[in-house]
Amino acid sequence: MKIAIVGTGYVGLVTGTCFSEMGIDVTCVDVQDSKIEKLKKGIIPIYEPGLEDMVHRNYTASRLKFTTDLKECLDDVEVVFSAVGTPPDEDGSADLKYVLEVARTIGCNMNKYVLVVTKSTVPVGTAQKVKSAIQEELDKRNVKIEFDVASNPEFLKEGDAVDDFMKPDRVVVGVESEKAKAIMERLYKPFMMNNYRLIFTDIPSAEMIKYAANSMLATRISFMNDIANLCELVGADVNMVRKGIGADSRIGSKFLYPGCGYGGSCFPKDVKALIKTAEKNGYPMRVLKAVEEVNERQKSILFEKLLKHYSGNLKGKQIALWGLAFKPETDDMREAPALVLIDKLIEAGASVKVYDPIAMDECRRRIGDKVVYATDMYDAVLDADALLLVTEWKEFRMPSWGVLKKTMKKAMVIDGRNIYEKKEVMDVGIYYFCIGK
Ligand code: UDX
Repeated sequence: MKIAIVGTGYVGLVTGTCFSEMGIDVTCVDVQDSKIEKLKKGIIPIYEPGLEDMVHRNYTASRLKFTTDLKECLDDVEVVFSAVGTPPDEDGSADLKYVLEVARTIGCNMNKYVLVVTKSTVPVGTAQKVKSAIQEELDKRNVKIEFDVASNPEFLKEGDAVDDFMKPDRVVVGVESEKAKAIMERLYKPFMMNNYRLIFTDIPSAEMIKYAANSMLATRISFMNDIANLCELVGADVNMVRKGIGADSRIGSKFLYPGCGYGGSCFPKDVKALIKTAEKNGYPMRVLKAVEEVNERQKSILFEKLLKHYSGNLKGKQIALWGLAFKPETDDMREAPALVLIDKLIEAGASVKVYDPIAMDECRRRIGDKVVYATDMYDAVLDADALLLVTEWKEFRMPSWGVLKKTMKKAMVIDGRNIYEKKEVMDVGIYYFCIGK
């Protein structure tokens, strides 16, 4: 089977590469010439464990191709996946400019049946817009060519993307014809060995599932952050509470970790977009508005703890930050809590020295020399008045407390991800604060 994937961003590149790994002939398309040239040389634009090797392997085997010309491959493929960006516009709605551009290019150039599958996260109703855009272009050309649209939202997580795609919990496909259903069934068949569930729905439901899933997960996190903050006030330990409620099979133990707020390219954007969709339909999403509000506050929680410790005055203090990415195993800093913390610290007159195993270049690109970049995790804490642990990278999990005690000006750790044992840290003579206990 031959397919094309438009958009070589996170979702597009992972999708294309994983399909090619299963022996499917994949052409990845992107309008950015420089990106395509780099991909042909095996240079991938994102950090994702396992992806580079997989791209290289399949490109060398000619199962994976890269081009800037969608028109060129349309005669050759049965399915076109659209995985282009849907950045939030000013009011938080998803901007469909690129999605509809792809649809028009297909309508202008197709000469035979094609199934157009939207993989980008798009609001309910988008598939219909894609369908109309293709049909309009066909009408302009005065030709009658059969085509189908489908919606196939992607649930992969950064850092685990390849595994998530190869062994998904479920694959959701919204279709409106038997032909489209049969093609999608065939396409995902090689993944069937892993016994995952292939769920077919109507198109609006498939579009809604992605938003509802991400919003539910974001809600769990904000709920737990609220519970954690309350635990501190009443003398409870959120870790114990988390285990206690997670053992209820109706609740489950995943995504109950409090911290310094969720970030990334999906949760913040999708929660906002769903609130907008609801507003446009005259329905206020009260729960989700609170989810956003709690998360915004939580991003400042480490700063508030630090400020309280220093009696409201951080002027001249040197603060170390471990972790810049919004979560481990990625260099992605979109909506990262670290960005909020850095701004607040600088505004309060502190200087900030940062370290992240992977996201240093990304941070330089975003905020330049507002902060000092450490050479390693111990260099970051040298002479510091406090250490804020923001991202729970593996290499931060067992630091040498002796070194910290010796080299910090004031030995103090504020653990934004609850990864350390309070007793172990305090026994060395280091002040320790965390979330929810
Ligand atoms: C998320 C969804 O998990 C994925 O299914 C969807 O396709 C895209 O959005 P991602 O943004 O890559 O994936 O990261 P994820 O691992 O879900 O974490 C999101 C944020 O939530 C991170 O900032 C993380 O630190 C935070 N988080 C996660 C918590 O604070 N507590 C938790 O218990 C889990």
